[in-house]
Amino acid sequence: MLTSKPVILCVDDELANLKLLEAMLAPRGYEVVMAENGIEALEKIKEQRIDLILLDVMMPKINGFDVCKMIKGNEMFRHIPVVMITALTEKEDRIKGIESGAEDFISKPFDKGEVLARIKMLMEIKDLNDRLNSAYNKITSLINFGKEIIMSFNPLNFNFLYSIDSIVDQITGKTYETSDKPQTVIVGLADETNNWQWYRYESTFEGVVRTLLAIDIHQSIDLPAKGNSKTVFSSEAAIGASGLTSLTKRLDSISIVVSNIVCYLSDVFCILALNYGKTVSSYDAAVLDSVVAQSLFLKSLASQVRETEHAFEYTVYALARASEANDEDTGNHILRVGEYSSVIAKELGMSEKFTNSIRLQATLHDVGKIHTHPDILRKPGKLSPEEFEEMKRHTIYGAKIIGEHLRLNMAKDIAISHHERWDGSGYPYGLKEEQIPVEGRILNIADQYDALRNPRVYKPAFDHGTTYKIITEGDGRTMPRHFDPYVLKAFKETSSQFEEIYERLKG
Ligand code: C2E
Ligand code: SIN
Ligand code: SIN
Ligand code: FE
Repeated sequence: MLTSKPVILCVDDELANLKLLEAMLAPRGYEVVMAENGIEALEKIKEQRIDLILLDVMMPKINGFDVCKMIKGNEMFRHIPVVMITALTEKEDRIKGIESGAEDFISKPFDKGEVLARIKMLMEIKDLNDRLNSAYNKITSLINFGKEIIMSFNPLNFNFLYSIDSIVDQITGKTYETSDKPQTVIVGLADETNNWQWYRYESTFEGVVRTLLAIDIHQSIDLPAKGNSKTVFSSEAAIGASGLTSLTKRLDSISIVVSNIVCYLSDVFCILALNYGKTVSSYDAAVLDSVVAQSLFLKSLASQVRETEHAFEYTVYALARASEANDEDTGNHILRVGEYSSVIAKELGMSEKFTNSIRLQATLHDVGKIHTHPDILRKPGKLSPEEFEEMKRHTIYGAKIIGEHLRLNMAKDIAISHHERWDGSGYPYGLKEEQIPVEGRILNIADQYDALRNPRVYKPAFDHGTTYKIITEGDGRTMPRHFDPYVLKAFKETSSQFEEIYERLKG
């Protein structure tokens, strides 16, 4: 199907005429398709690519003018040039022909040289027209591709390989015109230690399939220097002179025969588009370059956003750890409280965003203890009422330290409300039920679970079973009515995960 020969459809009711045309055209490198009437001609057009039609006028049933009108009336076929072959020389017939949409006329008996010259010219016009259309289609689909990729762009879970999948989908994408798409695409990615991983994409009926390439081919390519990139293209005749011979030989060794190639090459990422159904040009290279540029831009954006996000997380943890300086047991307390909180949040059906936020921001719940006197924090026995009043202020101090920032709103709410109780008996404000932010209600259980599991200067460590019992049945100091019933239920359902987290992150 992917013939590069121009295909001419000859339509004539006389077989002898068809044979004559074939004898004239075939030796000139044209592929000839024949039809003996208009109906057959229309079928042939639907079946295969036709580049030009030579159409007899005088035919039984449907005459040439009507066949031409049908072709020109169809959006899919109107671009195919039609040359009418007519014995009629009347002016009227010429006008009829023009009205039916024919591009040119040849009178019978015809001059061979003239016919070939006209066909050649019309083919050239058609070729230019096709290119224009295909450029227009490509621009449109590039714009749509860009739109789609930006709409679905999420810097935090951006995956470069998946984005390459969509690049490949884009350049091999199925349209009615497959001849200007590559059949095979090969992609290589280098990691930090310059280890290359190569993938091969093949177009199949189900779409594009990605598999690992059996060999490493980066040594066979003349890659640009670090930080640089280049786009190279070459067709069959010129591959020898393109500097790509060792690559094509290497591919040949795993039965990938290269007839033409367009590649984007850099020191860390390569994409090779092989075997387009036509000669490749700088235009194909520009298309590849532009889709690659979009993905590389998103990759860089994603990594910058991630870097900032990591810096933010790092700073939050650093601050949380600073707040533990005067608490003597600690270790991974803040990390565990974050994990328990996200387990409860997930069990309560909170969004992934909330679940991830609470994991991080919960770590700041006791940041206000920075201001609590070490003598109180480290007192081996029970606190005096005055000392406990001072202790309670760590909630307000915490909110003050965190301050006003949109990204830390949750942390602030948590700091101020993690000792409030559902029944209104908590501090600092004695808020009740839904007055307490849900993150505070979650932290209240998460924090107590961990405080109970650990030894404190003022208390021994409890095992999971005892802790579970204190939280779910009460011990006088802690009572079930202190907890949001939904949060308590979520704790009961997920308590095995609490135990697992404690074991994993203790010490
Ligand atoms: P923390 O040690 O991190 O404890 C956090 C919360 O866990 C406590 O909040 C309490 O609700 C719960 N919790 C801790 N230990 C026990 C326990 O043995 N039994 C029961 N039922 N619950 C327990 P709370 O009570 O508001 O205390 C806040 C902070 O005040 C504590 O943080 C700790 O730093 C300090 N604190 C509380 N009580 C004492 C104490 O008797 N002596 C000393 N030195 N510090 C205390
Ligand atoms: C305590 O006195 O140890 C704590 C009192 C409380 O949690 O309200
Ligand atoms: C306390 O926490 O010390 C008293 C118990 C309660 O308020 O339920
Ligand atoms: Fe606290």
